[in-house]
Amino acid sequence: MSKSITELIEAWDGLSIVTRYDRLTEAWLFIALHNDTLGTPAGGTRMKVYDCPEDGLLDAMRLAEGMTHKWAAIDMGYGGGKAVLALSRPLDSESRHGLLLRYGQLLKSMGGWFMTGEDLGTTPADMTLLMRESSYVLGNDGTGKALDPGPYTALGVFNGIRAATRHVLGSSELSGVRVLVQGVGDVGGRLVELLAGAGARVLVSDLDSIRAQNLAKLAGGEVIPPEAVYHTPCDVYAPCAVGATLNRNTIPNLRCRIVAGSANNQLEAALDADRLHQHGICYAPDYVTNAGGAISFAMMAHGAKDETAIKARIAGLGATLDEIFAEAAANNTTPLKASNARIQRVLNHSTQGADFSSRIRPGRAVRDA
Ligand code: PHE
Repeated sequence: MSKSITELIEAWDGLSIVTRYDRLTEAWLFIALHNDTLGTPAGGTRMKVYDCPEDGLLDAMRLAEGMTHKWAAIDMGYGGGKAVLALSRPLDSESRHGLLLRYGQLLKSMGGWFMTGEDLGTTPADMTLLMRESSYVLGNDGTGKALDPGPYTALGVFNGIRAATRHVLGSSELSGVRVLVQGVGDVGGRLVELLAGAGARVLVSDLDSIRAQNLAKLAGGEVIPPEAVYHTPCDVYAPCAVGATLNRNTIPNLRCRIVAGSANNQLEAALDADRLHQHGICYAPDYVTNAGGAISFAMMAHGAKDETAIKARIAGLGATLDEIFAEAAANNTTPLKASNARIQRVLNHSTQGADFSSRIRPGRAVRDA
């Protein structure tokens, strides 16, 4: 049984939940604002059918917390937030359009308290629509059209995988390395292309078997049926679909040496990072590995036009992971704990009076004196 909405909010350590019920579509809109220590809460807008609104709220809360971690890991002047448009049933395109317009008005009425972008279930075209309703959408290409963060996220994951193989296999050279990509949508699909280009042996899995087959053919790889993902031997398992695929049931079956992927909230519980460690599997913390999209949006919001500069900064995620793995090894702890300690230092430093003037604080700052 899910917890009730009041129980969920009582147990949450975030700032605020903005909620609206959309009568026309019977959808619940949840905007979870988790932390604004480093700047305005920002995060993607997810649209999905949930069994009950409570599940949608819980997802929004967990994802918003993940965004606090992600922004702190890259320290680019935003805080953690996430929006979930929790549908009770799939919508036809007209109803969906109406819902997005009303959501855009809600964003506008929040006056910049939350900034958003694309996420699971939403598209660049949806974001372009929202941009017409409010100015609180990240990833504007300068002409009012929304950019797709997918390729940037994929590039970050690619660099994250190389950092992990450098640490575990002794080389970032991916030639012949077996990488299983679970979920080949916007991010996973691009990742497969990058991996194939680097000579990796790509194993492709997707609920949509045609999509999996097409990509496997393109990459000269192999299709793995969804039910076989958790026991297929490989060097790297890259979760690029839904969250919580690393849990007490799946971890004992895994036959990989590294987990590094783009999905948000890959661990069902924090303890699962210890379980992976005990099984000798190196886990690249999701919120670092998948921060490429956030980096691209933040840099664009601050006027970066130079694609090379954006890509260079995303490649820097590899160096961040190198440091995290080294710190974890030196302190005989897990990469997740080492990474959490790093971001805690960033957050603490900031509350202790860091110089905000040097930081980028887009939108209307919430806590400015
Ligand atoms: N939804 C993506 C993510 O979780 C991209 C995104 C980043 C969207 C930042 C909005 C803000 O990283």
